[in-house]
Amino acid sequence: MTVAIAVLISGNGSNLQAIIEAIPRDNINARIEVVISDQLAAKGLQRAQHVNISTAFIDPSEYQSRAEFDTALQGLLDEYAVQLIVLAGFMRILTDKFVLHYSGRLINIHPSLLPKYRGLNTHQRVLDEGEKYHGASVHFVVPELDAGPIILQQSVEVTAQDTRDSLQNKVHQIEHIIYPRVIHWFTAGRLSLENNIVLLDEHKINNNHN
Ligand code: GRF
Repeated sequence: MTVAIAVLISGNGSNLQAIIEAIPRDNINARIEVVISDQLAAKGLQRAQHVNISTAFIDPSEYQSRAEFDTALQGLLDEYAVQLIVLAGFMRILTDKFVLHYSGRLINIHPSLLPKYRGLNTHQRVLDEGEKYHGASVHFVVPELDAGPIILQQSVEVTAQDTRDSLQNKVHQIEHIIYPRVIHWFTAGRLSLENNIVLLDEHKINNNHN
């Protein structure tokens, strides 16, 4: 059975675009049922509409609290019977209750080699620290921000010529490879989270630094 996916975005949606293109190209057993944004102007919404994927905007200003927003979000995800939730540049912090409800079915991509550089502004911080390597990480989401068990990482080299923008470009390029790969694994039934441990083909993944 095809796996029903939701992709949550707040902005450009280049990762969403990469996933849209990878599904038919790589024979990924998934269907993006809905793309949801907390920003009406998110370019990713147009990218989805362009290929006839349903979209939804949930307006944070209509909710009194994070809990109420997340309840509305959960209602929508239930409506679409989603089996995997893909955070792709979704800039809202989700409540613990929401995260725990979707444990093992909620993944995120973060622009750093976690556990280094959690949080925002990673490219500039990597430059400021004079790091030789930077990269991206896909992980299962847990309540603690950017701290979930790592599924897949890839590094890029930082050169003396690199700027914030050039690093962002390099990281985006690898994100567009590793995120579809993880979705492929998950939808093929190869990937799971058991007792906070990532299993691929029933073996513990050994790139987990947490
Ligand atoms: C990516 O760098 C991702 O790692 C981070 O947000 C950015 C989203 O980019 N979580 P895009 O909207 O997919 O282009």
